[in-house]
Amino acid sequence: SVNEPLKVMISGAPASGKGTQCELIVNQFGLVHISTGDLLRAEVSSGTEIGNKAKEYMNAGRLVPDEIVTAMVTSRLSREDTKTKGWLLDGYPRSFNQAQSLEKMKIRPNVYIVLDVPDETLIDRCIGRRLDPVTKKIYHLKSFPPESEEISARLVTRPDDTEEKVKSRLEIYKQNAEAISSTYSDIMKKINGNRSKEEVFAEIDALLSLVQKDKEKTTKL
Ligand code: AP5
Repeated sequence: SVNEPLKVMISGAPASGKGTQCELIVNQFGLVHISTGDLLRAEVSSGTEIGNKAKEYMNAGRLVPDEIVTAMVTSRLSREDTKTKGWLLDGYPRSFNQAQSLEKMKIRPNVYIVLDVPDETLIDRCIGRRLDPVTKKIYHLKSFPPESEEISARLVTRPDDTEEKVKSRLEIYKQNAEAISSTYSDIMKKINGNRSKEEVFAEIDALLSLVQKDKEKTTKL
């Protein structure tokens, strides 16, 4: 096909619903999901050199140094599947420097989605979040409880999901948000993330379908 696949970035405060929406986006559009949080957590649990370096920053709710994360992302983006399926970048860039690294390599998305959720909601979402280490599914004790006793018994809590650490993660997000969105202001789309996950996805689905159609038009001209 002459059509280049979709390239999407999704951003938003901690627990704004990025991971939850990415699962739905991948099902619908078949993009390669690249989550720096997931990649880093995998390095930590395998006890790699990167993981050992990243661990202390993550557990403290601070950003892992740019050079570690940027090397990880660019190596993943250079794999062949991203060229045929397109990509969905989740949790990167998270600082002005990270955004500039991508700009220098001429890596740019077609659309920059920002999930907008009020602070009070974010804290509650983090405190109630649980992860299934087997299926990697994201749950919430109140909003999305596990389907069975078996799943419930194996769920884990993220070490950075305490109220104190969530507040620090949120603060760091706010300090960086403007510098990043200024890089992508021409393609930025803010979406109200304080609704049911189905409602949020309906809007993202419509947006990405439109972006895809526009791309096909430009390619044909
Ligand atoms: P990362 O894993 O990216 O964490 P984050 O940005 O804080 O985002 P979260 O994973 O907390 O939330 P989410 O938006 O995915 O929400 P979710 O869908 O789970 O990063 C972790 C750490 O890694 C960082 O702190 C840093 O140390 C390091 N790191 C990562 N990237 C880095 C980078 N680029 N540079 C440097 N360091 C980096 O949803 C949250 C909860 O809410 C769930 O329980 C879910 O079930 C529930 N929920 C979701 N949607 C809804 C809804 N619509 N209604 C009700 N509940 C909902």
